Amino acid sequence: MDSSAELSIRGADGTYPVVVRAGALADALPAFVGARRFSRIAVITNDTLAPLYGEALVGRLPDAFLITVPDGEAHKTLSTATALYGDLLAGGCDRSSLVIALGGGVIGDLAGFVAATFMRGVAFVQAPTSLLAMVDASLGGKVGVDLPQGKNLVGAFKDPLAVFADTATLRTLPPIEWRCGLAEVLKAGLIADPPLVDHLLACGPEPVEEIVTRAVRVKKAIVEQDRLESGVRATLNLGHTFAHAIEQVSGYAWKHGEAVAVGLVGAARLSVRRGLASPTLAETVERAVIALGLPARYAGLEPAALWDAMRHDKKWQGGTARFVLLREPGAPCVVDGVPRDEVIAVLESLREGT
Ligand SMILES: NC(=O)c1ccc[n+]([C@@H]2O[C@H](COP(=O)([O-])OP(=O)(O)OC[C@H]3O[C@@H](n4cnc5c(N)ncnc54)[C@H](O)[C@@H]3O)[C@@H](O)[C@H]2O)c1
Ligand SMILES: [Zn+2]
Repeated sequence: MDSSAELSIRGADGTYPVVVRAGALADALPAFVGARRFSRIAVITNDTLAPLYGEALVGRLPDAFLITVPDGEAHKTLSTATALYGDLLAGGCDRSSLVIALGGGVIGDLAGFVAATFMRGVAFVQAPTSLLAMVDASLGGKVGVDLPQGKNLVGAFKDPLAVFADTATLRTLPPIEWRCGLAEVLKAGLIADPPLVDHLLACGPEPVEEIVTRAVRVKKAIVEQDRLESGVRATLNLGHTFAHAIEQVSGYAWKHGEAVAVGLVGAARLSVRRGLASPTLAETVERAVIALGLPARYAGLEPAALWDAMRHDKKWQGGTARFVLLREPGAPCVVDGVPRDEVIAVLESLREGT
């Protein structure tokens, strides 16, 4: 496969390019923006990424200025959004301005929400810098902020004009964030790209541009079929029912990607238990998770408490136990009405020391 790639995603009003290439922040993004007219360009980033990439990017764009928010999910809030509206006004932005989100999924969601709502919506470009944002958060048009009551409770659908995933930025990504992104790459392979799973097992997560591009293709195919999340997009939730329960019951001591890794093993074991898949599926998923340096087990959490957390999952409409399961890599299915004792048995088997 080509080591760099340009893909495109069909969104609400047309198609937008997704450029996956080392150096895209230095060439492709400035060229794209320079070919269009914007009254002002606001690059929204955080205080970790501003010195690494933000200042250089602003220097390459006409009429651009940098807005920096503090790093962390704790700042993906309406009060940060309010501050950003003020910064946009102070910087002279109007309806013909452009907002660029430069950062991980937190910045993409937050800046995208601001772009969707400032003056009823301004042009928006995604420049994801974390692996998770490149393969997941920057694609598909969902943007939003958290409320004290829960994550992503206020949001919008906002397609970007383009996505520029500069894989060179991944060199400074903390190793734990890299591994968490790999959990989503593995998820993408399990949903729709079995050769990607084989590649991760045989060669590890290199070359980076290739694994990012392949995971982007999976998400592209799914969101194009189901832009407003009614059906097939649910398969992107593979491993996530388990993961959300682990995150929640641990009081968010678990990182999302690590919880997804355990959740992928859980979904595979549940698939085997229900006779959907052969035992080799669970072995393959567990081997891949371990090969990527991710956890396959959890400790210190009660299976009954995890089940209770799952019951409150907003995707379990009417209280029916809904899981995305696998017949084999590349063949997901949504299964309703999974009995409690089967889920508990799988949760028991995922406990460390069992
Ligand atoms: N909109 C969607 O469809 C969607 C999908 C999945 C996740 N999300 C959201 O994405 C967020 C998680 O995204 P994330 O995992 O990228 O977290 P994040 O944005 O918090 O980034 C993780 C950490 O890595 C740092 N970082 C990012 N890129 C870096 C780089 N190149 N070099 C050095 N440090 C870097 C960040 O500053 C941060 O400290 C959550 O808020 C989640 O809700 C949204
Ligand atoms: Zn996820």
